[in-house]
Amino acid sequence: MSQLEHSIMNEIDLLRALPRVKRNIQMRKDAKDPAVVAISKQYGEMYFDGPREYGYGGYRYDGRWVPVARDIVAHFGLQPGMRVLDVGCAKGFLVKDLMTVCPGLEAFGLDISLYALMNCERDVVGRLHLGSAERLPFPDSSFDCVLCLNTVHNFPRPRAIKVMQEIQRVSGGRAFVQVDSYRTPEQKEIFESWVLTAEFHDYPDGWISLFSAAGYTGDYFWTIIE
Ligand SMILES: C[S@@+](CC[C@H](N)C(=O)[O-])C[C@H]1O[C@@H](n2cnc3c(N)ncnc32)[C@H](O)[C@@H]1O
Repeated sequence: MSQLEHSIMNEIDLLRALPRVKRNIQMRKDAKDPAVVAISKQYGEMYFDGPREYGYGGYRYDGRWVPVARDIVAHFGLQPGMRVLDVGCAKGFLVKDLMTVCPGLEAFGLDISLYALMNCERDVVGRLHLGSAERLPFPDSSFDCVLCLNTVHNFPRPRAIKVMQEIQRVSGGRAFVQVDSYRTPEQKEIFESWVLTAEFHDYPDGWISLFSAAGYTGDYFWTIIE
């Protein structure tokens, strides 16, 4: 796929192959207080592998990203030797699966969580960078594709714009971001009951205006809790 074909933002559901997760919204809402939120925002063991009230309730590899990786490789026409970055990669599940479905692909990740990197998949040891999405430690246009899934909402709006500018800078616009959103007031209420770490969230239109403010020209889609 040529650079030209990726010069305009496109809405596309690249995570459509992920299994739907059943969430206990009431349990999360009841347990949520400032102390729980503060611990979640440390992105440590409690967030990934502690009780569900603090985050994932056990972030373990189970292969669910394999079909997603296949869809990403097909969408961007990724080939062996190309370089892909997953910003907010956590333990590197998608990084691993991208290399599984496209042998020879050079996949890397970046995350702020030392815990996640210290507990990453063996196949990605040495491929995950400790750092912040706000300042990606890579030259301009150094990746053929940049992904950022369920991570940009962790910043207040001005800093989320900076994150999007960084993704644009290192990808040249061949990128895909998925962010927390909602299409109805009911979905917004469910989201607000569930969310722990988000600093910014909005309806799709609000996100699209944020993307435009950042000069982002890549693709995007929404995580909507129902
Ligand atoms: C909801 S998890 C998403 C993980 C993975 N992308 C996924 O979809 O399963 C959010 C991730 O963002 C990471 N994160 C939070 N703040 C960050 C920052 N400033 N820079 C990079 N990663 C960050 C967290 O450590 C966590 O791994």
